[in-house]
Amino acid sequence: MKLKFNADGKFKILLFGDIHEHTDYQTNPKFKDMHKLMNAALDEFKPDLCVLLGDNCNTNIYPENPVFFKKMLSDVVEPITRRNIPVAAILGNHEHDHGHEDEIVDVYKELGIIMRNDAPAEVTGNANFKELIYSSDGEKPVFCLWFIDSNNCFEDRSVSHYDYVHPDQIEWFEKECEKLKEMNSGKPMPSFVFQHTPVPEEYELLRKAHFWELPVAVRGYNTKKDTFYVGKKGTKDYVGEGPCSPDVNSGQFASWKKVGGILGAFFGHDHLNDFSGFYDGIFMAQHKTAGFRAYTDGCRSCVRLVTIDEKNPEKFEHQLKRFKQFGLKSESLGPIFRTLSDRQSFWLHILGYTAAGIGGAAVLGLIIKKLIEVFGG
Ligand SMILES: [Fe+2]
Repeated sequence: MKLKFNADGKFKILLFGDIHEHTDYQTNPKFKDMHKLMNAALDEFKPDLCVLLGDNCNTNIYPENPVFFKKMLSDVVEPITRRNIPVAAILGNHEHDHGHEDEIVDVYKELGIIMRNDAPAEVTGNANFKELIYSSDGEKPVFCLWFIDSNNCFEDRSVSHYDYVHPDQIEWFEKECEKLKEMNSGKPMPSFVFQHTPVPEEYELLRKAHFWELPVAVRGYNTKKDTFYVGKKGTKDYVGEGPCSPDVNSGQFASWKKVGGILGAFFGHDHLNDFSGFYDGIFMAQHKTAGFRAYTDGCRSCVRLVTIDEKNPEKFEHQLKRFKQFGLKSESLGPIFRTLSDRQSFWLHILGYTAAGIGGAAVLGLIIKKLIEVFGG
């Protein structure tokens, strides 16, 4: 399938983070809520391409029932395929949980979802590939979309909980970039990277929280767990949890800087974060879940639209739109999670427990006082 800028010079990409659909989807209202969001976003934005950012469909069912897995994945993307919109996908860490990755990539391919492995078999990962977007006259490729497999967990969790993009993947990527450069009159081709697990540099969009900011701060992940963070000035949207990036920096971001042309990187993985910002000239954006599975943040589930202008790709535009902002009503969430954010719900719980504790202590005090009065002489 040849991707191409429209006659008006624009190309729109709609992004869906960690949908995590599960085997009971046929009867679970969470699936309906996810489809409500997907349908509303497709109707409003009319994208030229959709991208699923990994952890798309749980693969635990694949080994025992690959037919069911294929049906589930097909049903998840049905609103997109019904509209004949191309859809690409990357593997998340959970697509690596149960093995059979190459077969799972084949299932995506059989369903017409853009996913494959362009790298030699010995290179780490099961789905490293790129797609080119052609000029509106269809003459030549002018923009590149990279889809990189960020693997699963790291073999030694004391070093890093999550795996990273390995040096052999980076080497392959850099060689491919050289070929693109030749194709693009010797200049780096403007490009985006789509990848499940964020690079460690995502923390550069945050800063250490002051103690008075702790109620709205997030705790860093794993080796950063002793520090609390808030978004830096210029970082937009929601920081809902410490980014779960690898604790080892394999040099991927440095490689982007080295090859040039990488304008933005778009990640999934963290179900609560949807912040974005620029670091060292590269835009990085986190995508919270577009579903209602796994851990979520109520009706703040969202999608992001990215619009590229063929004549001015460096000035691409992006916008987030949440479930609630589409005017949708959830069938799967209770009244609290329907209205409050995850952090607000957390503090409400703390308040409830504290009030119950104070109330309980007061009642106990009254009982003891009465006992003293009666039996104390
Ligand atoms: Fe996930």
